[in-house]
Amino acid sequence: ERAELRQQRAAEAVSEAATGTVGGKGDKVGLSTQWDDPMADPEQSKLPGEASSVHLMATNPGNLSNQNLAVRSKDQGSGKWTDMTIKQQRESLPIFSFRAQLLDAIQEHQILIVVGETGSGKTTQLTQYLAEAGFANGGIIGCTQPRRVAAMSVAKRVAEEVGCTLGEEVGYSIRFEDCTGPATKIKFMTDGTLQREILLDPSLTKYSVIILDEAHERTIATDVLFALLKRTLQKRPDLKVISTSATLDADKFSSYFNNAPIFNIPGRTFPVEIMYSREPESDYLDAALATVMEIHLTEPAGDILLFLTGQEEIDTSCEVLSERLKAIGPDVPELVILPMYSALPPEMQRRIFEPPPPGARKVILATNIAETSITIDNIYYVVDPGFVKQDAYDAKLGMDSLIVTPISQAQANQRAGRAGRTGPGKCFRLYTETAYQSEMLPSPIPAIQRQNVSTTILMLKAMGINDLLRFDFMDPPPVNTMLAALEELYALGALDDEGILTRLGRRIADFPLDSSLAKVLIVASDLGCSDEILSIVAMLNLPNVFYRPKEKQAQADQKKAKFHDQCGDHLTLFNVYNAWKQNGYSSSWCFENFIIARSMRQAKDVRDQLVKIMERYRQPIVSCGRETERVRRALCAGYFRSAARRETEAGAGAYKTLVQGTQVYMHPSSALFGKQAEWVIYHELVLTTREYMHWTTAIEPQWLVDAAPTFFKLAGTDAKMSKRRMQERIEPLHNKFADKDGWRLSAQRK
Ligand code: CDP
Ligand code: MG
Repeated sequence: ERAELRQQRAAEAVSEAATGTVGGKGDKVGLSTQWDDPMADPEQSKLPGEASSVHLMATNPGNLSNQNLAVRSKDQGSGKWTDMTIKQQRESLPIFSFRAQLLDAIQEHQILIVVGETGSGKTTQLTQYLAEAGFANGGIIGCTQPRRVAAMSVAKRVAEEVGCTLGEEVGYSIRFEDCTGPATKIKFMTDGTLQREILLDPSLTKYSVIILDEAHERTIATDVLFALLKRTLQKRPDLKVISTSATLDADKFSSYFNNAPIFNIPGRTFPVEIMYSREPESDYLDAALATVMEIHLTEPAGDILLFLTGQEEIDTSCEVLSERLKAIGPDVPELVILPMYSALPPEMQRRIFEPPPPGARKVILATNIAETSITIDNIYYVVDPGFVKQDAYDAKLGMDSLIVTPISQAQANQRAGRAGRTGPGKCFRLYTETAYQSEMLPSPIPAIQRQNVSTTILMLKAMGINDLLRFDFMDPPPVNTMLAALEELYALGALDDEGILTRLGRRIADFPLDSSLAKVLIVASDLGCSDEILSIVAMLNLPNVFYRPKEKQAQADQKKAKFHDQCGDHLTLFNVYNAWKQNGYSSSWCFENFIIARSMRQAKDVRDQLVKIMERYRQPIVSCGRETERVRRALCAGYFRSAARRETEAGAGAYKTLVQGTQVYMHPSSALFGKQAEWVIYHELVLTTREYMHWTTAIEPQWLVDAAPTFFKLAGTDAKMSKRRMQERIEPLHNKFADKDGWRLSAQRK
């Protein structure tokens, strides 16, 4: 029926085209069966004679016949807007002239490395070329992306080009959201999603081709997939693997994949003039905003892209910039100021692609998402302060944190390149040339060498890979990080003292969650509170629940306080979810209560997915009713390492972590703020002005011992000792793994 509808729409488009309303006279472009090779039919390759006068943005949602219509795009040379059919636009991409050669190379080799400028068409075109050439007949063409946003937006774009509804021939799959169907031939997904699939099916039987896209980003999941795919390829001589990469890493990738050939797509780029600061900047943010203003006031037309480190910095800078602009007065030309980061709502993200009004200039303040993941046309100026916010893991402290670090030379060059896509551009580097030459690393340190690898190691163990020291990592994680991960998994009960996966460990690996959260869910079934924990886990997965606008902070806080649970923030989250549910999942209820409705809907989706997994593995879903102590006990089962004790001497809200003995603080937004909770566990530590605990719950120390008997003991359980003394002497057990020379890494079942 759907196919019929599609044909009908397509036919409508033809008749429209024939009468000259859309797309030029007699334009038959894109009406072939979807997977026909456009090269095979000479009629199809003809370009339509006339440009149409109808402007339809390529992003026009939900229009099935988009492929036949004109889309607006900017001419690279003249900078003028021209109207092109999707077919014309596809054929104007640098990759198009290499279509036949690429397909030959893929036919001939099992592994291919493809190198090409951002925007040359690797992601959107390669997948389609493969499908058109019949590669989708024997299986799905899978394409991984390091970022969720990229997976979704590129799938949407390709669906438009193919002319199908998203989720049919072209779909995407990201954690907690599967938009694919039985007809799906091209599937975009995050690398994390494919990592989960390869755990369940190491041969990846569903797939005929895997494209590891943006592999130069070197996420942990991509790195692990590299190694796992190498094994899969031996079992599956018919499977093809293509990896796309920036120039710098291509040789390394090639030698890792037994000297796989490298296919270069020459880009069409313009020269970019690089300007360095003469002196190191003392305040990069201030320098950045001043530079943007200067460009706007003195440089010829062309949009500006400024790289900042995170959401907060970007939001504040947007405000500062617009105030400075106002202060100058009405005589300056308009400057459209736009933020861009992954947590930004999709409708706001879309705005960055829209051209500014005539005579105005656009400035986009973006995180490093704009380095490679998305491409914005008409950028002539790039402002690069030289920093990025990165996940870093301190194995000694057992702590993840986001820290602002200098970028690498490769990133600096990638950033500069963003200014040379439409015409000759300029890049303002807010650091000295000496700093670039001598202080920056040539390329970034891969994530696997700087982040916590416990979830990765658990997954490898679940696949039966025990010999981690000899596992074929492109760049292995540091031994200390691996030891810390093993120790963490052992304490969690996921590994036994031989380092072998336990039954519990296997069950933990079944969930697409952090190991600690997965364990909480599993234990919650046994404790009879999985219904509550499901809601809490879903809520913890959200970036933001509470809406707190600057003008109405007091009012927002008041509303939030109504949900506060005296036992802490986890139960507060549950109260919010529960109240929303009781109000019929209503958006207006959210609005009234200063709660972000979009987040709540997302929480419900996540919860529904988790329920399905629970049912699949026959985990009972039970509610504890008023006995919420069980919820807190369940949380201890996963978060016993994140326990802290109040330190009255150290001032209000001060705590000391039990494991590392570091000073942390109760966050002012916590339901426990100003309360006298003696022992707490927290979900995570966030470093802002201080090291703050986020999502904190009051517990009893005995629960820690119950939850992790190998990790904690009540020292000297002398009957005469007072309860208080006992509590004081609770201490982490001797670290089982760290003092051995790394031998546990290769532990094999005897
Ligand atoms: O993967 P690569 O960076 O080589 O290019 P791509 O993502 O395939 O993009 C090719 C072209 O498609 C870009 O230059 C954009 O003009 C267009 N595109 C788009 O309009 N919307 C998207 N979501 C993705 C690509
Ligand atoms: Mg791409």
